[in-house]
Amino acid sequence: MQLPDENIEYSYARLLAPLPEAWTPLAELQAKHLLSPERVEQMRPLMNAIRGKVASERELQNPPAKDLPLQAGFINLPQNTLDAYRRKGDASELGKVLRLAQRLRENTDRVVVLGIGGSYLGAKALFDALCHTFHNELPPKLRMGKPRVYFEGNNVDNDALTELLELLENTCVEPDLPEERWGVIVVSKSGGTLETAAAYRAVRAEMAKYYGPKSDWLRQLIIPVTGPKGKLRDLAHADGIADDDIPTIPDDVGGRYSVFTPVGLLPAATMGLDVRALLLGASAMTKRFLEEPFDRNPVLQLAAVNHLMTEELGKTGRVMAVWGKKLESIGFWYDQLLSESLGKNNRGATPITSVYTRDLHSRGQQHQEGTRDKLINNLVVRHPKHPPVLVGMADRNEDDLNQFSRKGYPDVLDAAFKGTNQAYADAARPTADIVLPGVTEHTVGQLLQMLMLATVVEGRLANINPYGQPGVEAYKKNMMALLKATPNLPKGEVADQMKGK
Ligand code: PA5
Repeated sequence: MQLPDENIEYSYARLLAPLPEAWTPLAELQAKHLLSPERVEQMRPLMNAIRGKVASERELQNPPAKDLPLQAGFINLPQNTLDAYRRKGDASELGKVLRLAQRLRENTDRVVVLGIGGSYLGAKALFDALCHTFHNELPPKLRMGKPRVYFEGNNVDNDALTELLELLENTCVEPDLPEERWGVIVVSKSGGTLETAAAYRAVRAEMAKYYGPKSDWLRQLIIPVTGPKGKLRDLAHADGIADDDIPTIPDDVGGRYSVFTPVGLLPAATMGLDVRALLLGASAMTKRFLEEPFDRNPVLQLAAVNHLMTEELGKTGRVMAVWGKKLESIGFWYDQLLSESLGKNNRGATPITSVYTRDLHSRGQQHQEGTRDKLINNLVVRHPKHPPVLVGMADRNEDDLNQFSRKGYPDVLDAAFKGTNQAYADAARPTADIVLPGVTEHTVGQLLQMLMLATVVEGRLANINPYGQPGVEAYKKNMMALLKATPNLPKGEVADQMKGK
């Protein structure tokens, strides 16, 4: 059940240029770099029309070729997933995800999640935002049966992969002990992404070495998440993994829109998150998007003002300033969403994730006084999860902090937030706020769905297809061609290299 105060809010009040009473240098800057309230007002009919278009795309069976690719399945997915679970229970896709997550939780102490791009960033964002900051370091008792989680296959980093395998080899020596068992979730919608496939090959070989090539654990503790067809599914079948143990990514949901498919849900459930609350949050956001008028519709507002700032005021840098280090990966997830969805036809804003206050001591100077090409979207949390850490009274006051002894970390952060945005406003630097009441599965579910919907709406507004990522293919094609053109090392040399000669 959603409580009203659990709704996330979006406010763009500071983006609106105040009515100037007299000419001042600031008023001139505001007129140039902020939005006129009339311009936002004029957007209303267009926003309603675009909402209608995006909503109707959910039903299109055979869209014309010029509209392809069209992958609007993510819009209704959260509610559909919950409905199917209510109707079919364990036999539904969510039922399958929960069963497999439980298997991993009960039988392993470590899980490696392999995947890249949309098959990685959502799960990482959920892990960082919602799990304990030191989850992997916590003793098993405090983790309450939730395995440690590692992410790989999101790069081609020889040493990082080697060190992960080294860690597993050194910490897991007795496969009969559940606390020394580890498993794998391998995620690839296409089933053919080289980074993920190569990492899976190494990890699969390591597992076979650990459990024995014929061990049942291999079939039990490797969970592939993939599209209805492809090389990964074929390989899983060849390894004796049945379809019943392979959650499926629907065809009509694109990679970066797939966080509420098993791509995000299986890792989330494995790390002990409440996936139903995530889906409820996402579904509530879809409902707000479809039903609420512009004034109460964060998706339409966010899309409209982001569009105007980029297309009409030339703010081609879009900073997601996250006010909390646990939110950084949500920023990276949005980086991909924005880049791959709207970075097309020589257009599209460039996303930049900044963690405040950390990056006020690095990028802050540029944001305050550098090129005027940026819009800053703050992502701010109203209530921290834990009671405030007080500055406190100390015997030695050389640091002069006793004056703040009864102030807590949230007070300091609030002062930093207000002070920073005031400083930006005083220089006509545009900022807006996405406000989370707290960081919970329910609010993060709303947030991710809001950003996905707003990105699609923004694409439709700018006449850019938000689905597909044709530009990503160029590097993949070259990489494959180069790999094929380079001869394999002779066997002896491979062995020498592995020994570090
Ligand atoms: O958004 C996308 O579709 C991409 O970023 C993919 O998620 C990414 O390339 C990984 O693809 P796959 O899941 O097929 O391995």
